[in-house]
Amino acid sequence: MRAVEIIEKKRDKIELSKEEIEFFVRGYTDGIIPDYQAAAWAMAVLLNGMTAEETTCLTLAMANSGEKLDLSSVVDIVVDKHSSGGVGDKTSLVVVPLARACGLPVGKMSGHGLGFSGGTLDKLESIPGFRTNLTRDEFLHQLGTLGMVLSGQSVDLAPADGKLYALRDVTATVQSIPLIASSIMSKKIAAGAQAIVLDVKVGNGAFMNTLDQAKELAELMVSIGDLSDRTVTALLSDMNQPLGQAVGNALEMKEAILTLRGAGPDNFWAHCLGITGHMLMLGKRARTLAAAKAMAQEALDSGLGLDYLKRLITAQGGDVSYVDHPEKMPEAPIKSVIPAPASGFIHAVHARKVGETAVLLGAGRSKKDDPIDLSVGITVMTKVGDHVESGQPIFIVHARDEATLTLATEQLLTAITIDKQPKAPLPLFYGLVATG
Ligand code: URA
Repeated sequence: MRAVEIIEKKRDKIELSKEEIEFFVRGYTDGIIPDYQAAAWAMAVLLNGMTAEETTCLTLAMANSGEKLDLSSVVDIVVDKHSSGGVGDKTSLVVVPLARACGLPVGKMSGHGLGFSGGTLDKLESIPGFRTNLTRDEFLHQLGTLGMVLSGQSVDLAPADGKLYALRDVTATVQSIPLIASSIMSKKIAAGAQAIVLDVKVGNGAFMNTLDQAKELAELMVSIGDLSDRTVTALLSDMNQPLGQAVGNALEMKEAILTLRGAGPDNFWAHCLGITGHMLMLGKRARTLAAAKAMAQEALDSGLGLDYLKRLITAQGGDVSYVDHPEKMPEAPIKSVIPAPASGFIHAVHARKVGETAVLLGAGRSKKDDPIDLSVGITVMTKVGDHVESGQPIFIVHARDEATLTLATEQLLTAITIDKQPKAPLPLFYGLVATG
């Protein structure tokens, strides 16, 4: 078998066999197939697609490219949660402790942000001392003792995805349904949780721009989960406007703490309640979504969710005083309010443009190893459907200098659309696809 023949087949829209896919994944992981051939192959997949069988074979080959964790030896059922990536998405910081407070073990490996889409690990780094690089044994031990872990991918899980994802990022081959499905599901299968809630984002601030694309991706991931004996619920959620108000690492960490104190933005809390509810149902802690949400609400109201965030931070070496005093987190030297340029109804707060502005301010990376500034970002003061008066604050820019503030202000003004006609609020969820 030769890599070039496999690329030719994909180029000519011929279905690849299991053996060919396994050969390609193994060869690329071991460094025998070079980046330029993998890039050509990824572009052929992006242009010509894959059948469901090919995508399943690709996912399993990538899941088998490294270590696979068996969590059933530690606790009876572990639930994992994964977002396909968005702007202002700090959901994991809330739902992991909250689901644990409801008695559900959660083992989650998170990532850093890339491009306009933020990453949970960067947000957690706003808490000094918090370790995101737990070893395999530490991960398993904490899952067994505390019943909850939120760490980086320190175990060698799905290394084929690690290599391929970095390559796709710089070869314009991220936005492919079979490549996204196999990337996400290979990591989830290797990480070992038996039940998985997928938050599939749809909109201009997501990789899937239309509902049809998001549904296709969700259905594919659920069917791959089925074939691997994992119970999967994929929620289709809005990413046309940022989630919550805060976009930027320390700002998002503060908003997650505020939310666990019961004082977070309504739409973000409703989103967290939906995700936690489905996690509790998959983990068999509740029979109906209404009962699951009531449990989560109770865990919030009693303060147990916040208490579990503190336990998580303590277990992973973080300075827990930052939860009681979030004002200790890094703050940008400049805070500048952008007023509404006109009166009317908000028709759009373009999530992608807001995410790109956060990167411009220094909150995100353009390349994998770029340093980030934890303090900078944007507070988004309005939602689609709100009425604003001219001059009313619509954004607060948290900047490190005047030059980035000026650029960010210009860009944010293009992200907002105000019109005299009323506009309905955007839904949080568009539906779900589930096992069975
Ligand atoms: N998240 C992933 O883990 N992989 C993708 O390809 C896209 C989003």
